[in-house]
Amino acid sequence: MRHLLDVTDFSVEELYELIRTAEDIAQNKEKYCQSCKGKKLATLFFEPSTRTRLSFEAAMLELGGSVLGFSEASSSSATKGESIRDTVKVVSNYVDIIAMRHPIEGAAFAAVKAADVPVINAGDGGHCHPTQTLADLLTIHRECGSLTGLTIGLCGDLKYGRTVHSLINAMSRYAGNKFVLISPSELALPSYMKDFMKAERLEYVETTDMDRYMSQLDVLYMTRVQKERFDDEKEYMRVKDCYILDNKKLAGAKKSLRILHPLPRVNEIACEVDSDPRAAYFRQTLNGKLMRMALILKLLREKDMPYNARKSEVHKDLNCPNPKCVTKTERELEKEFIFSDGEYRCAYCDCYVKNR
Ligand code: NCD
Repeated sequence: MRHLLDVTDFSVEELYELIRTAEDIAQNKEKYCQSCKGKKLATLFFEPSTRTRLSFEAAMLELGGSVLGFSEASSSSATKGESIRDTVKVVSNYVDIIAMRHPIEGAAFAAVKAADVPVINAGDGGHCHPTQTLADLLTIHRECGSLTGLTIGLCGDLKYGRTVHSLINAMSRYAGNKFVLISPSELALPSYMKDFMKAERLEYVETTDMDRYMSQLDVLYMTRVQKERFDDEKEYMRVKDCYILDNKKLAGAKKSLRILHPLPRVNEIACEVDSDPRAAYFRQTLNGKLMRMALILKLLREKDMPYNARKSEVHKDLNCPNPKCVTKTERELEKEFIFSDGEYRCAYCDCYVKNR
């Protein structure tokens, strides 16, 4: 059955198909208002969320379906020690499709292994957040008129910012895109992502200076420093206000620049920027609902198609080196790895196994 663990589970053509459906939904709301009649979506949120959970719920309701679920781990049996596997197995008996957010990296693939219905990854720790990327893709497509040939600045917490990882995965598949990675060195993109960018021969630069490439950017993707992922609070305090975008910083930017942010915003964009026509982040939230509607329709329609996006194998002799990987916490999970370009990477969290 089909699932969405990360955007690469869909082909480029399928992503365009989702964009077309989302545009059609935006124009013809009534046409879709009974499309999911009798179907149920479970939102299993083991981690806080405003936009993702509510937009999933709004999406299913606008398609004529219904929703059930929980919005924090403390109101689920996870507090009693239930595994992801058991929770998902049980919920599969109650609903037609599951959207799950979990604080542990690779949790979504662990859920897929247990599920009898399609699973959507609504964020797994600092790893991936593909449905935010669907919102980002529709936003870039609508605002910039294209997904190709863009210079994309990603600014802030590139280490723990899962939306950044999924967006790079997605935008790397469209021709001519270049990436400017703006972060303090402590919050630089994880090495598994840089390994991926090198393997894909993507054009990118890393800088700590937000102003340096501002005039070249077509898209500026701002992110919050992900407080909840830091092991050391002092470290967070040191980097939390590393970049603040304000009108002065935008002075040299293109007129056609578009500023995106997955939200929530803490301090990284001054409120004065909100009234600049280049600020697209509130329009982006509407796009998120439209793309989630298109996604639910697609997964329910194609639920009997085989899921073969992850060509992984069980390797009992290999260990994922990521201490935050779900294979370290979930009981009896088979360790699976993907072999590509002469290296193994964890099928759950994508971390490369080096120096075997
Ligand atoms: C993002 C997330 O949860 O990763 N939020 C969202 O889903 N819109 C970004 C964030 O929390 O900073």
